[in-house]
Formats: sequence, structure tokens, C-alpha cells
Amino acid sequence: MPNLLITGGAGFIGANFVHHWAKANPADTLIVLDALTYAGNPANLDGLEGVELVHGDIRDTDLATNLLRDRQIDRIVHFAAESHVDRSIAGPDAFVDTNVIGTHSLLKAARKVWLDEGSGRAHRFHHISTDEVYGTLSLTDPAFTEDTPYAPNSPYSASKAGSDHLVRAYHHTYGLDTVTTNCSNNYGPYQFPEKLIPLFIINALHGRPLPIYGDGMQIRDWLYVEDHCTGIALALTKGRAGVTYNIGGGAELPNLTVIETLCAAIDKAFAADETLAARFPDAPAAKGQPTATLKTHVTDRPGHDRRYAIDETKARTELGYQAAHGFEARFAETLHWYLNNESWWRAVLSGEYRDWIAKQYG
Ligand code: NAD
Ligand code: TYD
Repeated sequence: MPNLLITGGAGFIGANFVHHWAKANPADTLIVLDALTYAGNPANLDGLEGVELVHGDIRDTDLATNLLRDRQIDRIVHFAAESHVDRSIAGPDAFVDTNVIGTHSLLKAARKVWLDEGSGRAHRFHHISTDEVYGTLSLTDPAFTEDTPYAPNSPYSASKAGSDHLVRAYHHTYGLDTVTTNCSNNYGPYQFPEKLIPLFIINALHGRPLPIYGDGMQIRDWLYVEDHCTGIALALTKGRAGVTYNIGGGAELPNLTVIETLCAAIDKAFAADETLAARFPDAPAAKGQPTATLKTHVTDRPGHDRRYAIDETKARTELGYQAAHGFEARFAETLHWYLNNESWWRAVLSGEYRDWIAKQYG
């Protein structure tokens, strides 16, 4: 049975992947290595009895080395990162530290245990990355392929690009078995409410403005996190060593369209369930007004990439990957998750959550 080390497994995509993998492969050993930053939440792993959470930093090479050796890990799925563009603009250092130095620390540990110590164990280092490493597209440019030259524009995407290059180098130079997947914008359960979709849902429920950067015509490809997990599992098990695969959601949309879908879905949910007005009395929908009245254009993000788009021909033809459903249906599921899990987002937004982490995990 494979033994997996999942870094960043208490974060948004990592936790979804742990749930996904544990359901499909209940006999496997899953160990999550997570520093429990503001974005990591042990509650994201609730209900997963056999999964062990190790509270630690990927930059701690000795910790990673010991885990790989002592727990006979044969697959690393590496999600741990600083992941929010706005935070990278405000403070790039943490992004270089975690995304570049941290990834290199894990690669060193993997090389030592899997190659230098000659365990002979079959292994794989699966690096999770982003389409943002390819830079920005005009409306008429073709979508990103795996051969699109890297042109990262934000400190976040530059740090992810650096980590991608290190993974590539460890394959070419030392023969480490690696695979890299570059995906588009994820949405779904357990996403920290700083990213567009969960932030706007929670703001709308409180009657707070929905801050649209610039003209709101920036285009992203939206990937439901469960589809992403399917793609990761395919690349992890079927991908060729040293190869990169792009994973998209097949839903290329301007932000304004995403926001209109979000506002309409909230109005519909309030119309269908009168208890929502009592739970969220400050929401415009509770007062019979459209959620769209909260839309507010604000100063654009510096260096804001205009368009991302994914050509996923390679993942489709080599791995059999395909995103399952359209955006509206998946968005509606996501909205209902946030409506049904109010205690989850209230906890992650409160100071009590940080106190609890400090008490439980030191
Ligand atoms: P997230 O911010 O929700 O979670 C990151 C996790 O990493 C958290 O649990 C955090 O505690 C942990 N972590 C941070 N620094 C660490 C460190 N030094 N050591 C150990 N753990 C650490 O991120 P996410 O949205 O789940 O993204 C996961 C991965 O997917 C990242 O590598 C990100 O770059 C990539 N990605 C995300 C998206 C997206 O839309 N969210 C899109 C493309 C790629
Ligand atoms: P985000 O979720 O931060 O993902 P990324 O920057 O990695 O694509 O943002 C998605 C899009 O939404 C992006 O074009 C920026 C925009 N955006 C806003 O307009 N307002 C906001 O408050 C946020 C967080 C994002």
C-alpha cells in the first residue's frame, strides 16, 4: 500500500485532496505535514480517522527527511505554499521562504532518502503549481500549454515558478521521479475567505461591499476543487516522470460574470429558504434587495494579470482528465457548502481559532 506525505494538507486544496484520496484508497497511509499558518485548519480534516497530522514546516529538512525515512513514504504530494497574490504584493518574503526555500528543502529530503540512501523504493514527488507562472494573456492569445514560456508577474507566481524550476532540475540532474501539475483558479469547500469566491459570499451575507478590482473584466479559468483532485490523482498515478500537465476547469469567465452568478445564486437561495433572512439579516437579499447592489469597483491590484486560460489537451489525451460539470451547478454546490458550514468560516475568521491552534499544536 502506498504511504503518502501530503504537505499543506490542512489547507484548501490539500484537505480536499486528502478527503478525495482517503475515500478512494482507504487502505493507504496518509500523513499530512502542515505548518498551520493562517490558511491551515485541522478542522478541514475532521472525519478522517486514519489521517495523521504532523504540525511542522516544510523548511525543516530534518523533519521531512525523518518522516520520509521512518514512515517509509513513497509519494509526496506537495501543496504547502503561501498562495494569495494580494498577500504576496504586501509581503513577498514569506512567499520566497515557503514556496522556493520550502520546496527546495523537501526536494533535498526526497533526494537524500529516495536516491542517496539507496532505499530502492519506487517514489514520486508531485508538485502542485499554478497557471499563473505563464503570465498573462490577451483576449485573442491561445490558452496556456505546457510549452508556454514562463513569465510570472506577481511575487506569488514568481515564487511558484522558482519552485517549478527546482522540481524540474531535481528530475533532470538527479533523476528524482517528479510530476508537476499547473492548475487554474480553484473554488469549493474549505477555501479560506480571502480569495474571490468565499470572500464575496461571506461579504454578501453580511451586507458588506463586494470589492471588484478595476473594471472586473479580468478572465480566469474556474476549476471546481473536486475536479482538480481527480486530475491530481490521475497525474500522480499515471503521469510520466519529469513531465508537467495543465489542469483546467473548462470555465473561462470574466470576474464580473462570476460575481453576477454569485449574486443571483444568493438571491435565489434566500428566496427558497426563509430561514436565511433570519440568519443573515444584514444581507440585501434578506430585505428583498438584489445582492448585486453591493458591487463596488475599487482600485485595481498592481500588476493584475488580465487573462488566464488553460489548454488541457495533454492531460485529457495522456491521463484521461476532464472537468466534470459546468460552473453554475458547481458554484451552487459551493454556495450551499458555505451556507451549511457557517461555524467553519466563523471559526477561521475569528481570533479564537488562532488561540485554539496555539493551544492544540504549540
Ligand atoms: P492554502 O493557502 O489554502 O493552503 C496552504 C497550506 O499550506 C496551509 O494549510 C498552510 O498551513 C500550509 N503551509 C504554508 N506554509 C507552510 C510551510 N512553510 N510548511 C508547511 N505547511 C505550510 O492554499 P491552496 O489554495 O490550498 O493551494 C494549495 C497549492 O495549490 C499551492 O501550492 C498553490 O500555489 C496551488 N494553487 C492554488 C490555486 C487556488 O486557486 N487556490 C490555484 C493554482 C495553484
Ligand atoms: P483571487 O481569488 O485572489 O485569485 P488569483 O488572483 O490567484 O486569480 O482573485 C481572482 C480574481 O478576482 C482576480 O482577477 C482578482 C479578482 N479579485 C477582486 O476583484 N476582488 C477581490 O477582493 C479579490 C480577492 C479578487
